[in-house]
Amino acid sequence: MKKIGIMTTGGDCSGLNTVIHRIYRGATLRGWQVIGILDGTDGLCTTPPRIIKFNKDTLPIENARLAGSFLHNGHAGALNFETAAATGKLPHFNKQLRKSLQELNLDALILIGGNGSISLAWRNREIYSGLQLVCIPKTIDMDIPLTDKTIGFNTAVQQLTSFCDQLMLTARSHHRWFITQTMGRDCGQLALNAGIAIGATAILIPEIKFDINSLVAHIKNAPTDYGIILVSEGVSLRGHSGKPADIISRKLTAAGITNRTAFPEHTQRVGDTTAADRILATRMADCALHAIENNETYVMTAINDCECKTVSLNEFFHAGSVNPDPNIPDIQTSDAYVSPDDPLLDIATDMGIYIGETK
Ligand code: F6P
Repeated sequence: MKKIGIMTTGGDCSGLNTVIHRIYRGATLRGWQVIGILDGTDGLCTTPPRIIKFNKDTLPIENARLAGSFLHNGHAGALNFETAAATGKLPHFNKQLRKSLQELNLDALILIGGNGSISLAWRNREIYSGLQLVCIPKTIDMDIPLTDKTIGFNTAVQQLTSFCDQLMLTARSHHRWFITQTMGRDCGQLALNAGIAIGATAILIPEIKFDINSLVAHIKNAPTDYGIILVSEGVSLRGHSGKPADIISRKLTAAGITNRTAFPEHTQRVGDTTAADRILATRMADCALHAIENNETYVMTAINDCECKTVSLNEFFHAGSVNPDPNIPDIQTSDAYVSPDDPLLDIATDMGIYIGETK
């Protein structure tokens, strides 16, 4: 009988509980024992490690659709890979993680994490020697290379779409514009997809430069006198600091365009998990369990050409652009961004959406 652990790290997103539920179900059918590590690496570093043993009542199926992680993702500011590296505690932290994993005597660990957690797991891979490490990608940012989908992204697009749908009604009533700032870090996928869904008037993403005068002209020539300008949080304007939506709002006001700002913030990370994300979570859980059966290690589940397969963490790490964190140079993460060939960019332009100076 195998003993496997599940851990959720990094920021939460909708779909984590579905993937945890499906891993438990698939593992039980194989006769395996499942433990959950609480609070991500923070719980794993504690002596003794904070864990729960799963049974059939631990995560009822009706709760598997709820956002958040029932295992928690860790306290803000707790010791994790980032904070350990930033404070020079990485050697001690790594030693502690390894000791805890040995104590737990796991055959395999399923790490459900984002770009940072998976990159860092690979960079500190000696911690996981002696067991199988299988990662499952989750993030609302969709910035993970080598996979076409990440758990939580579809729900985040839906949440943002619903938020903007409501704003559109008040925007129309007052003949004004909403400058809505989305999450996504330095990746524009969330803004781009939700912007297409709502029929935004403009979508500004970090990957594409834009010109404020062109934006003003575009809004003034729009067929409506109201609408939504989506601005991804990673957008920057030379010579300005502060939230990009605030900066753009001030510039539009100066150009005579009546507008308000809106910040959906963490509502993008919650919401009942969409059917698409639940299906994805189920496929990735199944793929991870097969990977364990096949004795794979240092792999990540990924969707490519509609198929769910594993890719090696080495390949994953070197696939995106590998950038040092500006605040913690010891940390390098592998990112994927909106590619200039993304078909949604041409579609947006064809639909009269301003997406910046693409040509
Ligand atoms: O990576 C997910 C994400 O939600 C980003 O889109 C956002 O910039 C960040 O996390 C917010 O982090 P926090 O929850 O720490 O404010």
